Amino acid sequence: MKKRKAVWGGRFKGGPTASLRAIGDSLHIDKRLAPFDIQASIAHARMLGKQRIIPKKDSAAIVRELTRMKAQIESGKLVVEGDDEDVHSWIERTLTERIGDAGKRVHTARSRNDQVATAFKLFVGDAATTLMWRVSDLTSALVMQADSTVDVIVPAYTHLQRGQPVLLAHHLLAHAESFGDDYGWFTTATVYFEDCPLGSGAATGVPYRIDRRAVARELEFQMGPTENSMYSVANRDFAAEFLFHLAMTAVHLSRLAEDVCLWSSSEFGLLELGDSVSTGSSIMPQKRNPDGAELTRGKTGRVIGHLVGLLTTLKGLPMTYNRDLQEDKEAVFDAYDTVVMCLRVMTDTIAQSRFRPEAAERLLRKGHLLATELADFLVTEKRVAFRDAHEIVGKLVRTLDEAGKDLSDVDEKWLAKFDPRFKGCARWLDFRRAVDRRDHVGGTATRQVKKQLAAWKHRLST
Ligand code: ARG
Repeated sequence: MKKRKAVWGGRFKGGPTASLRAIGDSLHIDKRLAPFDIQASIAHARMLGKQRIIPKKDSAAIVRELTRMKAQIESGKLVVEGDDEDVHSWIERTLTERIGDAGKRVHTARSRNDQVATAFKLFVGDAATTLMWRVSDLTSALVMQADSTVDVIVPAYTHLQRGQPVLLAHHLLAHAESFGDDYGWFTTATVYFEDCPLGSGAATGVPYRIDRRAVARELEFQMGPTENSMYSVANRDFAAEFLFHLAMTAVHLSRLAEDVCLWSSSEFGLLELGDSVSTGSSIMPQKRNPDGAELTRGKTGRVIGHLVGLLTTLKGLPMTYNRDLQEDKEAVFDAYDTVVMCLRVMTDTIAQSRFRPEAAERLLRKGHLLATELADFLVTEKRVAFRDAHEIVGKLVRTLDEAGKDLSDVDEKWLAKFDPRFKGCARWLDFRRAVDRRDHVGGTATRQVKKQLAAWKHRLST
């Protein structure tokens, strides 16, 4: 094999050891920055020509060839592979092999330190856009299920104990709400990666009359060039911030996944997983397992791990660039790929499964779900103080438990015998009425949930 020529080779006699190359080479990871790094190099080379820092014809040749390389990479005709240390070295070598000496001028007035920060920010911006769409797909699936089950009442749980009746749609929209927050961040909170580091050089700027504003404009960095060259090459806050939001989305996914696992268990029986989104057992023929949800829950740990990993990398670094920073990309790429995959599998799981209204009815029959309602009846219609009402219904529940009965097994007559103050409570012993009494913003009344649904549909269609 031809000996590799490193971009920093001049002052070295021999090449690095195999061990140093093994720990340092990153082309196999950062190759996916190629389109972004080329885009930044094009803007840089164009500016160098305009400012007469390099000959105009060299600038034009560089821009032309880099544009061709980018298209060829995208079509698969050009593969980013080789013996190079990283993607930046690969691009420069390939360019120079193609256009000769003009290619050697592309690295004027820049360093790989400002180059990698720029390409990585462009990647994060692009990834945030993809996430926005994938999060929106999952939210749509939740909203569609909520829409088609809007009549179904289920127990609402606190402490994983049955508490009060609630619309299943309200529960599904609670998950939608968490993804709505993620969507918001991926859409708008681009401030962390919206200023352009290019032109910062290795750490102190460059001794040429560069036009950083023009480069930032061409690359669509909304906030223009970065303010401090040292921070520009040292900063990975944007990556940490992005990882935090990936971790937050993963946590939201994991909580939805946990609900899916519960709902699809024989104990709940509330969700029938579609054939396409469940798997069987190699020994138990009857099994239908929620693997997509379980793996989503399982993969959340590694996404959180990447956030903690990068923060740990950053915490001890002196200004400015340190090679430790190279660890940023593997963390972000893996967290990003993992979250996109989990978003897709959870979207499919929600869209291709079916809720069972008959199971919902069964679930309502245990857990004295209308106990609070009965206390509220005493407060509203019998003017009993809530604390006393709580006590009265508490005693009732104890008696029912001792008799092996549920509140849903008895009627007004039975209750009035237990305590005459329950006379007239029949209207309060109805699940639908209990739900619909919570008729205020954020409540589970059918009217309110339908409003929420309409708002979601509007939001998702715009
Ligand atoms: N591959 C390096 C990284 O990802 C690029 C910058 C290298 N700079 C340097 N001075 N060695 O951080």
